[in-house]
Amino acid sequence: MIKVNENFLRLKSSYLFSEIAKRVQEFQTQNPKVEIIRLGIGDVTLPLPKACIQAMHKAIDELGQASTFKGYGPEQGYSFLREAIAKHDYQQKNIDISPEEIFVSDGSKCDTGNFQELFSQDIKVAVPDPVYPVYVDSNVMAGRTGEFKDGEYQGLVYLRSTKHNNYLPDLPSQKIDLIYLCFPNNPTGASITKEQLQVWVDYALEHKALILFDAAYEAFIQDSTLPHSIFEIPGAKQVAVEFRSFSKTAGFTGTRCAFTVIPKECFIYNSQGEKINLHKLWLRRQTTKFNGVSYVVQRAAQAVYSEEGQQQVKNNIAYYLNNAQLIRKTIQELGFHCVGGENSPYIWIECKQDSWDFFNFLLHKAGIVSTPGSGFGKSGEGYIRLSAFNSLENVTLAMQRLKEVFNS
Ligand code: MLT
Repeated sequence: MIKVNENFLRLKSSYLFSEIAKRVQEFQTQNPKVEIIRLGIGDVTLPLPKACIQAMHKAIDELGQASTFKGYGPEQGYSFLREAIAKHDYQQKNIDISPEEIFVSDGSKCDTGNFQELFSQDIKVAVPDPVYPVYVDSNVMAGRTGEFKDGEYQGLVYLRSTKHNNYLPDLPSQKIDLIYLCFPNNPTGASITKEQLQVWVDYALEHKALILFDAAYEAFIQDSTLPHSIFEIPGAKQVAVEFRSFSKTAGFTGTRCAFTVIPKECFIYNSQGEKINLHKLWLRRQTTKFNGVSYVVQRAAQAVYSEEGQQQVKNNIAYYLNNAQLIRKTIQELGFHCVGGENSPYIWIECKQDSWDFFNFLLHKAGIVSTPGSGFGKSGEGYIRLSAFNSLENVTLAMQRLKEVFNS
């Protein structure tokens, strides 16, 4: 008899964004005339930068010639891309990361979800609350939690990030082995300073813990005092892994390309307390389970670092941040408390009622798709998230509709 992995049965019935998509689809079927504006899932709407398109065309032509054809690529990513990443994202910013410490992948969702495989079953895991659901669900699938009770999985430590602590979690009172942090934060859009991040690095150093730092939204940082990388923080290379993505930065949500940085001096421990090199372990995992990102896509990602690519990406980010400003301003004018939207494409809005009720209200009264805060965890109850990823025309229209709904 084929038996199920019972850990999967602990999961809530569907993934947050699948549930939203289902509800929106049902609404659209019942109300075919409503022009729905999607400010829910953070999915980009602008086309790929021209520099990326040109690089892809060229790469496809190479694949069409026997002399330049490519089969399997290196599992860790082509060196042309790893070198470009190390140079532009780290070395030019005085952060000492080498191309060998970079693993190119098909997405930060996959990497943040898969990474927990490297750790023992009995580690203590802390996640922010509200949280990007992948960190939680992947640990549930791995059997590191108990049942889902009162909005939480037993066994996980939830780091509350609420209005009361400015959406920045406090250090846990108990000893944690694995800490997930995400800044600029998804879903709240809150950011962290170097001093605040140093506190977490010091904690990890003291407790021989590891920080999984999700920096998928770093390109949206406008405040020049904020860290773009955890490796700007002294000591972080010993205790942190960083996840970055081309998805929101360069419009690769459908194209798929991201990377994970694992410094060679980062160690975890076996049951005898001996050091195990994390970089080697992930390489071993990837060479077994992953065959790399396609050559064409890696060439496109490399083009992000060309002079034109950098300018085009900057323009796209400015475009979304302009939307974010518009949303933030309208929401505040309407009298709601909100955070985010300044160094992030997300605006986290206090709605002071059940999140799913408010989600339904916005969908039915204004035809706007949001993301209910409670979908990101217990501390998200009473909030919704709006995303700035849409056209300026649609965001402007959405804000007009909100004004009509709340001012009438
Ligand atoms: C989000 O809306 O939170 C993101 O698009 C989800 C993701 O990047 O997987």
